[in-house]
Amino acid sequence: MPLQINNIHDYHEAYQKSIDNPEAFWDEIASHFTWKEIWNKVVHFDFVSPEVRWFEGGKLNITENCLDRHIKDKGDQVAIIWEANDVDTPSVSLTYKELLREVSICANALKSMGIQKGDRICFYMPMIPQVVISILACARIGAVHSIVFAGFSANSLADRIKDCTCKMVICSDFNKRGSKNIPVKEVVDEAIAMGCDSVEKVLVYNSTNQKINWNPELDIWWDDAMEGQSDYCEAETMDSEDMLFILYTSGSTGKPKGVVHTCGGYMVYTCYSFLNVFQYKPGDVYWCTADVGWITGHSYIIYGPLLSGATTLIFEGVPTYPDSGRFWKVCEKHKVNQFYTAPTAIRALMASGHEEPDNYDLSSLKVIGSVGEPINEEAWMWYHSKVGKSHCPVVDTWWQTETGGIMISPLPGITDTKPCFASYPLPGIQPCLVDLQGEELHGHNQEGLLCIKYPWPSMIRTTYRDHERCRTTYFSTFHNKYFTGDGAKTDEHGRYRIIGRVDDVINVSGHRIGTAEVEDAINQHDHVVESAVVGFPHAIKGQGIYAYVITSGEVGDHAHFRKEVLDIVSKHIGPIAKPDAIQIVSQLPKTRSGKIMRRILRKIAEGEYDSLGDISTLLNPECVEELKAGVKRLS
Ligand code: WTA
Repeated sequence: MPLQINNIHDYHEAYQKSIDNPEAFWDEIASHFTWKEIWNKVVHFDFVSPEVRWFEGGKLNITENCLDRHIKDKGDQVAIIWEANDVDTPSVSLTYKELLREVSICANALKSMGIQKGDRICFYMPMIPQVVISILACARIGAVHSIVFAGFSANSLADRIKDCTCKMVICSDFNKRGSKNIPVKEVVDEAIAMGCDSVEKVLVYNSTNQKINWNPELDIWWDDAMEGQSDYCEAETMDSEDMLFILYTSGSTGKPKGVVHTCGGYMVYTCYSFLNVFQYKPGDVYWCTADVGWITGHSYIIYGPLLSGATTLIFEGVPTYPDSGRFWKVCEKHKVNQFYTAPTAIRALMASGHEEPDNYDLSSLKVIGSVGEPINEEAWMWYHSKVGKSHCPVVDTWWQTETGGIMISPLPGITDTKPCFASYPLPGIQPCLVDLQGEELHGHNQEGLLCIKYPWPSMIRTTYRDHERCRTTYFSTFHNKYFTGDGAKTDEHGRYRIIGRVDDVINVSGHRIGTAEVEDAINQHDHVVESAVVGFPHAIKGQGIYAYVITSGEVGDHAHFRKEVLDIVSKHIGPIAKPDAIQIVSQLPKTRSGKIMRRILRKIAEGEYDSLGDISTLLNPECVEELKAGVKRLS
């Protein structure tokens, strides 16, 4: 069984085999990689505990597969191209040989600073080549990476550092993103001052040459740490099920949880899915615009492409700087063949420069992808016609932090595409729809809750230090199934269309935000008694954040109060979680048992007053009129 599927016949054959005999299927796929020792069992699983192990007994190092394995044939091929935020800064390329050398030096530097197999390292980095180098260096010596999106606040960073007791933080001095100059190291300093006692060293890359505060006890400059290190570093032998990384993500309740991925299965699946979903061919230039702080960056900027021996582009900037033609300019400059971005970026670019792609030569593009949130038909059509010039298939890829890799997606040129449909599952993936009782909805043209009924190699293994949370969140809703938290439909051919989250998670510009987290932050305000946060449709962001707030007494100037609430949310979580609308109310709709009726709040925020449903079970039905009146004033 080859790694890459070339035609519809191969797809059907691979899919059928993966269902009929998953162990034989994955055994063949996994044999394409370099293992130090072969596994003795392909998969062991129990979705009740849950317990999932892939390629048990197998020994490997993922970086040998990302780097060393390609040296013989592709040593001089470009592995990463870096495009800076500023148009005038020359781009940088590293070949596979050069990347292996840099990774080895960095790996030795980490070791010399006392990092050992199993230690956790937190990354708070801009999109520069050093982020890829140091992540791979971490994996090379068997340390565990926990990357935190550099837009999160010091509070969020501190929570994540503490939860997994990181021994080291790797960051830059500042980050130039768009026209902003973000004081990265200052945020790290602030976070560490919040009681991150586990941190022994802060490794700082001098990215912008600006002055920063220096703590000689903790801080060490990247260049000093690398100085004199050998450019050879033996890759640590890892068990298939050893932890590769932790990535924090939001859920319906409580603080973000650390999703754990392990070495063997994650390696096999990210490479397999990358090669098939993007139909990457040798010599192509692939570009994913995500940030490495999200799962898309982990799986499809770093691991998937490098495991496949691809050339992967990393971009430091933002889509609208210096203008809304930047993405297309980069595509033209580097002759990008596969381009992968989020619907929110597509909508923003469509709004600010409908004809803008016409000003660039986009003829190199072969496949264009979308990820992170449902893509609406208008955005799909614009993307397809204006960017893909009506000949590039749009791959609408559905997956999650927890799934590690793309689960449902067209295979370009192989399966057909249909606007708004993620379409068919990849080989090895067995999705199903269930009703509220957990009964599977067989046949086509169904609507229900999306579950997966058989394990796949890159699936979540646990939530860090809290296995029970993993069980209750994903495996307890429906017996013997992984529950995704998403609702979906199928069409008459069985293609999947993802509708969106059915839990209290809001998807803002493709970023997952838990309503509980935002409420916790808002409630920190001295004058806030209670708050309730819901999502509402937003033209660019997909979903916006709507906060209903009960205040104590008079808050005075409303504009001032709103600003304070926004500041508090920025401080506690990060600017991405700032509410788009704040409505001061005197009460929230509650059931007799005291539970907030979010369904009603959602409908009111959406402006759907006619479908509020039964409000007679409310303890305080009279509040509905006040809520409606308040919304009208806002819009
Ligand atoms: C949503 C991002 C519709 C979904 C890779 C999922 C999507 C959540 C799509 C995971 C898509 C992701 N169409 N919705 N193609 N892709 N989602 O963990 O609600 O940041 O549960 O992973 O994004 O977000 P996460």
